[in-house]
Amino acid sequence: MYAVHAAAATDAFEVIRGDRSGTGQPGSIEIDIVNASSVDRAFRLAQPDFVLLLAAMSDIDRCEVLPEQAFAINARGAETVANACARTNARLLFTSSAAVFDGSKHGYREEDAITPLSVYGKTKAWAENAVKTLTPSAVVIRIALVLGFARENGTNAMLDSLTGRWKAGEPVFLSTREERNPIDAASLSKMMIDMLADHSVSGVYHVGASDSISRYELGKCLAARMGISAELVRPQDDPIPGRAPRGKDHFLLTEKIRRLYNLEIQSSSQVIERCFS
Ligand SMILES: NC(=O)c1ccc[n+]([C@@H]2O[C@H](COP(=O)([O-])OP(=O)(O)OC[C@H]3O[C@@H](n4cnc5c(N)ncnc54)[C@H](OP(=O)(O)O)[C@@H]3O)[C@@H](O)[C@H]2O)c1
Repeated sequence: MYAVHAAAATDAFEVIRGDRSGTGQPGSIEIDIVNASSVDRAFRLAQPDFVLLLAAMSDIDRCEVLPEQAFAINARGAETVANACARTNARLLFTSSAAVFDGSKHGYREEDAITPLSVYGKTKAWAENAVKTLTPSAVVIRIALVLGFARENGTNAMLDSLTGRWKAGEPVFLSTREERNPIDAASLSKMMIDMLADHSVSGVYHVGASDSISRYELGKCLAARMGISAELVRPQDDPIPGRAPRGKDHFLLTEKIRRLYNLEIQSSSQVIERCFS
């Protein structure tokens, strides 16, 4: 997802990418958010005015089997970055998740009680609290599902994983019971940059389409849009044993951000179309 953020940001900001592998490329800096001295060093070198904290262990199933590592990255790592932002007066935007809710009702507002089911959701809930406490001016964005093609390998991008398997002629099994309201990476990036630049905005905001769609229906729409045989999209009706618990209905209500920016919230089908434009 990073390249899209960078592309959206470069008009307004000088962008420095934080990366734990330390690519050494111009405009990038080594940072491991689990390591406080690495975070301090990166802040000293980059002296950021604005910080977009995307780094996370984002694979929900991996978090479930490696809870300590998930907590160290997603919770304590976010806390360490928030601490550095507070110390240096940098403005922070933190990406959280609809997984802070249990998905047992249709439609969640920003102020609804937090009820995470998975380790991932719990780490994000913990991080939100740390971010809000340490950096009250921070923006916390909750997202149900981002759609977009990544510009590098090895990311969490659902579209890349689907197209990789479809190109290999493999069918994908997608849940008929998990509903999400997606947002495309380009719209999300623009929204995040606007919010980061707008010092009058703070607190939690939900983003996403005006309607929710099951992963199976989403897969069918994507396959149709890409000219992939419908045969390669198969329904998965029951939760897969051994995977992290996932809420049924993660529909994030977006009235708050709609009012803030007088936005026209896109439908799921418009969001899908935007991924290809
Ligand atoms: N994609 C979605 O649908 C979705 C939905 C809700 C919320 N979110 C949130 O949005 C953010 C971005 O998600 P994404 O889908 O773009 O995830 P992603 O592709 O997995 O990217 C996460 C990045 O975090 C980096 N990272 C992991 N541990 C780190 C550490 N200790 N120090 C520094 N960097 C570290 C990873 O780098 P390595 O390559 O080194 O591992 C990776 O580049 C995450 O906070 C995620 O929880 C995403």
